[in-house]
Amino acid sequence: MPTYRPDIASIPVYTPGKPIDEVARELGLDQIVKLASNECPVPPFPEVEEAIAAATGTLHRYPENSSYRLVRALAATHDLAEDYFWVGAGSSQLLGCIALAVGGRGTSAVYADPSFVMYGLYAVLSGSESIRVPLDTHLAHDLDAMEAAIRPDTTVVYVCNPNNPTGTHVSGDAVWRFIESVPDRVLVVVDEAYAEYATAPDYASAIPLAVERDNVVVARTFSKAYGLAGLRVGYAIGRPETLAQLRRTQPPFSVTTLGQVGATEALRHPDRLAERIHDNARGRAWLAVELAARNVEVAPSQTNFVMLLGERDTQRVAKESMERGVIIRTLGPSARVSVGTPEENARFIEVWDEVASSHTSS
Ligand SMILES: Cc1ncc(COP(=O)(O)O)c(C=O)c1O
Repeated sequence: MPTYRPDIASIPVYTPGKPIDEVARELGLDQIVKLASNECPVPPFPEVEEAIAAATGTLHRYPENSSYRLVRALAATHDLAEDYFWVGAGSSQLLGCIALAVGGRGTSAVYADPSFVMYGLYAVLSGSESIRVPLDTHLAHDLDAMEAAIRPDTTVVYVCNPNNPTGTHVSGDAVWRFIESVPDRVLVVVDEAYAEYATAPDYASAIPLAVERDNVVVARTFSKAYGLAGLRVGYAIGRPETLAQLRRTQPPFSVTTLGQVGATEALRHPDRLAERIHDNARGRAWLAVELAARNVEVAPSQTNFVMLLGERDTQRVAKESMERGVIIRTLGPSARVSVGTPEENARFIEVWDEVASSHTSS
């Protein structure tokens, strides 16, 4: 038997949601509503589909390694110089590269619990110890406790804002104060995968802080509001000298040609993006109201999903929902439901009425 690293045994095997086609086939259903992976419920912008189709003729070549055109478009979008951007195969890849660049034996990584699962996985892969700091009573990051949790061996702190899986956010001021309090030798990664969806007046991106300070990096993605999860494109913003160090850990040609073309085109349509953000905010509010009418509270969400609060038999609810063609994500006694199209949201509520309320124990 080959010799494996003993620490990989602690990594839970990631079980992605079943593909829609597979569930439909297994259950003999025509229509599946997938509300489990925080994806955009509608296809990419038509111009993006056209641009990708037109670019297939160059696929015999390796992609452009620096994602030059995409970086230029990002720089114009954010009104920053091009060397403040680093593009990767989804922001997950960038988070992994960051963990490798600052981790290693004898280091530790601080992050909230629960938060995005990849912080823990990458901590193991990089050899860092994880320091998990429970969310506060409002299910938001407890930034004071996170500051207190930083040890002399800590090299990275993740702030997921808004947070997955709770959807909650911390204010721009609170993030600013937190970053002021973190020692300069610690890298603060502000994961803003859902930033485009945030509508709270006190929410603010940490991009200005990443531009100012060499120990702050903001991670963004095209997988959520831009609706390009299948293309695998994300980006980070930080000071050029910081990004130069972090990108050493990234394999070459990580971002495909079609990914670069699709993401570049997506940036040309801020009007379409705004429409999706608007639709998402409406769907999110509608779900919260409908669930509240059924005595189900949800955490205040700034994202494209809502987390249901209260103890209930979610495993059974999720299983019975799936049998009716609606897939949601269970999280212990809770569940996370992505905002779908108005029809999908209505179908979820219809199924909820059929299966969930009878199992509610709180
Ligand atoms: C908080 C957070 N960060 C990062 C990502 C990664 O997104 P991607 O790798 O698709 O860019 C996700 C995806 O669900 C997420 O929830």
